[in-house]
Amino acid sequence: MRDVRDINVKLKNLVKTGVALSGLILASVVSVGGVSADQPSMTLAQVSEDFSAERTYQQSCAACHNSGAAGAPKFGNADDWSARAEKGKETLYESTINGYNNIMPPKGMCFTCSDDELKAVVDYILAESVE
Ligand code: HEC
Repeated sequence: MRDVRDINVKLKNLVKTGVALSGLILASVVSVGGVSADQPSMTLAQVSEDFSAERTYQQSCAACHNSGAAGAPKFGNADDWSARAEKGKETLYESTINGYNNIMPPKGMCFTCSDDELKAVVDYILAESVE
């Protein structure tokens, strides 16, 4: 009986994550839609002047990584992140840029972030979580 209840709770959490996810996807579609189509593709290989890794983390990654939604490694949790860090930063950068395991979304949903900015956010997470 206990197991069934556990499964129910897990299912409920999954549904909640799904709802949160669709909200996030919607929000990003709306904000991407706001960018004028005439603009040539943005220069993506740099860190823009007013970039803040912390702010970007809060805006794009915190929704999942603060709560550990869907098994996301939790911000500030050394156990979660040291296991990831063992793979090497380059691997983590790649997982962030391309997405990972069909659940970590490509670019962590920060579609306006350049690769270098995403790397800076990964560095920020690791600095605040491991060590
Ligand atoms: C929609 C939820 C969600 C968002 C938003 C999100 N992540 Fe994740 N992330 C996950 C989940 C879930 C995992 C764990 C996937 C697994 O191990 O199966 C993960 C894993 C990771 C990993 C580890 C990858 C690896 O190779 O082990 C890194 C690094 C990461 N996320 C960085 C980020 C960054 C940086 C952002 C914001 C720019 C971000 N994530 C936004 C859900 C999310």
